[in-house]
Amino acid sequence: MVDSGRLWRRIFELGEIGRQEVGGVTRLSFTEEERAVKDRVASYMEEANLSVREDAVGNLVGRREGRNPDAPVVLVGSHLDSVYNGGGFDGPLGVLAGVEVAHTLEKAGVETDHPVEVVAFTDEEGARFSFGMIGSRALAGRLTPEDLTHEDENGVSIAEAMRGYGLNPERVGEAARPQGSVAAYVELHIEQGRILENEGLAVGVVTGIAAPVWRDFVLTGGTGHAGTTPMGLRHDPLAAAAEVMGIVEAEAAGTGTSVGTVGRLSLRPGGINIIPGRVEFSLDLRDIDEEVRDRVEERILERAEEVCHRRGVGMETELLQRMAPASCSEMVRGAVEEACRAIGVRPYALASGAAHDAMQLVDLCPMGMAFVASRDGVSHSPDEWSSKEDCEAGAEVLYRVILDLAKGA
Ligand code: GLV
Ligand code: MN
Ligand code: MN
Repeated sequence: MVDSGRLWRRIFELGEIGRQEVGGVTRLSFTEEERAVKDRVASYMEEANLSVREDAVGNLVGRREGRNPDAPVVLVGSHLDSVYNGGGFDGPLGVLAGVEVAHTLEKAGVETDHPVEVVAFTDEEGARFSFGMIGSRALAGRLTPEDLTHEDENGVSIAEAMRGYGLNPERVGEAARPQGSVAAYVELHIEQGRILENEGLAVGVVTGIAAPVWRDFVLTGGTGHAGTTPMGLRHDPLAAAAEVMGIVEAEAAGTGTSVGTVGRLSLRPGGINIIPGRVEFSLDLRDIDEEVRDRVEERILERAEEVCHRRGVGMETELLQRMAPASCSEMVRGAVEEACRAIGVRPYALASGAAHDAMQLVDLCPMGMAFVASRDGVSHSPDEWSSKEDCEAGAEVLYRVILDLAKGA
């Protein structure tokens, strides 16, 4: 049995790091908050008797040796960074449950054939650089030098931020794990949707992970006097952006499966009596089917061009990141199903609408995930919540999955 009291207490201890007065937590990559949260989790790993290190991209890794030193490692983890004003469960639950599993194995003196490593990945959310999964991409050998040129809102690149944090961006290749060196990766995460809650289930078995494409748009027109510029003579980029946002909503909704979001919007100069001259906004577009998503993206771009052309507004768009949906492996899915049965939960299969570090590892090793029910499906919000009982059930499932995959006895 895992110590669910310790797991629960630690979720709230981490929730104090980066806590915002207006609500939620903000922990961006390569910041003091990230240093503090990783140091705290490193201390938990040490309590579990894991040997702790940070790799070349800052992934925090706690290792428990197996009987066979040459056996490939079983990885378990998630992330500790957050979105702006995020919740306390998205990411920390998976890392802390992984530490809890390792601690439980240690306390019970359970030996496994394979070594087990708990990993807290660097920057899953992409909140700072509009580019995420930096740590898991690096571990999977997918992080390119060009990726490190993404900049935050102050013009600081990932490479510069890494240097400021004491990491050498020229060495990120050293974080890559060789093919064959990882037996499996498993991640426990909150669902961030309503499906499990509606089914009355604490835990679910993830089948696959939908993937986002992220873009930035810059629309430019002519600033002007709000009182003297006739409506027919305006080139208002905000009015054009409003039309484009309607298109995003309609095109995504039209498929029945895609989701499209404009989460960031800014305009200049921003005066009550000034027609704006420049508008910037983001697009997050996802589907479990890559072709469907990419068709929706194409339609949005075509129609946005038409809108801007008709209105005499300039439009530029930049691709920030494009991920591919990933299917969970049969082996890890099977282990999660078995573990659900073992704790008396009907195995229930569902796809993930959110993106996760697991998807980056899909070509490196068999990977899979288990979900814990989310209250009202709310996430990326201070109101994010999962019950103590459901988190405990998730950690119990994870314990059994790790025992199964690492061949413990
Ligand atoms: C991460 O949580 C994402 O799905 O954007
Ligand atoms: Mn997450
Ligand atoms: Mn998230």
